[in-house]
Amino acid sequence: MYNVVELKNWKNEEVDGIFIALFEDDKHWPESLNEVDASIDGTLKQMLKEARFHGKFKSVFSFHTLGKLKAKKVYIVGVGKRSEIDDEQIRSAFATLSKKIHADQLQSVAVILDSFVHEENEEHYGYLLSEAIELTSYKVAHYKEKDNQVEKSLERVTIFTNGSEQPLLEELHAGKVYGGGTNLARALVNTPGNLLTPTDLAESAKEIAERHGMEIDILEREDMEKLGMGALLAVAQGSEQPPKMIVMKYQGKKEWNDVLAFVGKGLTFDSGGISIKPGANMHEMKMDMGGAAAVLGAMDIIGQMKPETNVLAVIPSSENLLNGLAMKPGDVITSLSGKTIEVRNTDAEGRLILADGVTYAKHLGASYLVDVATLTGAVIIALGEYTTGAVTNNEELMEKLLYSAYDSGEWVWRLPSFEPYRKMLQTSDVADLNNSPGRPGGSITAGLFIGEFAGDTPWVHLDIAGTAWSSKGTETGPKGGTGAMARTLATLAEQFDK
Ligand code: BES
Ligand code: MN
Ligand code: ZN
Repeated sequence: MYNVVELKNWKNEEVDGIFIALFEDDKHWPESLNEVDASIDGTLKQMLKEARFHGKFKSVFSFHTLGKLKAKKVYIVGVGKRSEIDDEQIRSAFATLSKKIHADQLQSVAVILDSFVHEENEEHYGYLLSEAIELTSYKVAHYKEKDNQVEKSLERVTIFTNGSEQPLLEELHAGKVYGGGTNLARALVNTPGNLLTPTDLAESAKEIAERHGMEIDILEREDMEKLGMGALLAVAQGSEQPPKMIVMKYQGKKEWNDVLAFVGKGLTFDSGGISIKPGANMHEMKMDMGGAAAVLGAMDIIGQMKPETNVLAVIPSSENLLNGLAMKPGDVITSLSGKTIEVRNTDAEGRLILADGVTYAKHLGASYLVDVATLTGAVIIALGEYTTGAVTNNEELMEKLLYSAYDSGEWVWRLPSFEPYRKMLQTSDVADLNNSPGRPGGSITAGLFIGEFAGDTPWVHLDIAGTAWSSKGTETGPKGGTGAMARTLATLAEQFDK
């Protein structure tokens, strides 16, 4: 889909649209814009003046060339002030550009990449561009009788630059891969609970593993019983749908050591169980497998980028429903680790299935643990929809993850986890741990609950209850599943030893 051509040849390109950047505070236009102006008899200045277009951030001015250029339309993309430019601003500019491509159903486009580039790192801009194009192409699948009109979709993107071709092509490819993995995660999150049961989630994982030649193993209920995964089984016993423990392995090193493990919450529908949730918006609890989606999205990316890191993916998957066998408040269960848990609230089920997920990951050789989960409503109160909350027992791993998040354009913020929070978990008279120690600090205690099972293994917990789902839509995607943390996890795997 992408090809790279020398900058000076841009006028020969027959395309539906050509995109050129304009910085708000530049005294001089980029050469390509001067050339556009010349080809339309020097009328561009007047047109822009009349439209009051000055290159303001996120604005676009477009016009038909009426045969005066080989491109059918010219799009001038406002990038804002050069003096304020950073990756975030460029991401937004490329999102604006990409949304135009899709909205106008352009099938072939040209981008004067060098007009966007602020410093000498075209390759990185290539990455940001193709990622934005991929991310903004995503549409939520629907099941209406009338199909969506089949839209024309983008087939060809020609990048014009003075930069070198090969590294740029690689980055363009990487951006597409990262965007694609994120879209995969979004699609899983958006799938209704009846169409994405734990069995279906395991099928999706199998597909991904087969696509990239990864090892995959899926534990059934009987296997869990033999191993003693009492926490996952307790959650699953209230549902007719069989639970699954999904395990995937990507071996990026000669030896299976230094294993980075991703543990994702795969709760395909959370009713709350006997501690049932209120009815309003309960339908959105189909998104409670957002952690699993992030891990699978990351594995899809990792399978293509092939980093030299060993990655283990563990996804405990179940529904949280209520039948005559369902776990009850007051029940005491024994987890795979041997620690006992008093179930004070059946709606605090995520930490139960993750307890066994984390323990199992350690059994399989995890040296580092990152768990990802739509774990608490409290994190939405604390951080809103835009920032993922983190809890850790290891500064170094936390820092690595924060860098990966930054490089991925995702926001993560660390929550405090001082000793008194941990003590709050030891408030059961009958078991080692209380699964629901109350509302204050709810996201912290939930994270630390999982940390009890991580033990001394370096561990970071990511609560994506706020970020996995967007109520209004994001800059690059529609409302619903966002694919949060798929890119951060994949980036962490890519940068892990560096
Ligand atoms: N899946 C929910 C958390 C959640 C809430 C995700 C809102 C997305 C949006 C989780 O299983 C849950 O129910 N948590 C409880 C814990 C409480 C009972 C200690 C919560 O946050 O209310
Ligand atoms: Mn719950
Ligand atoms: Zn849940």
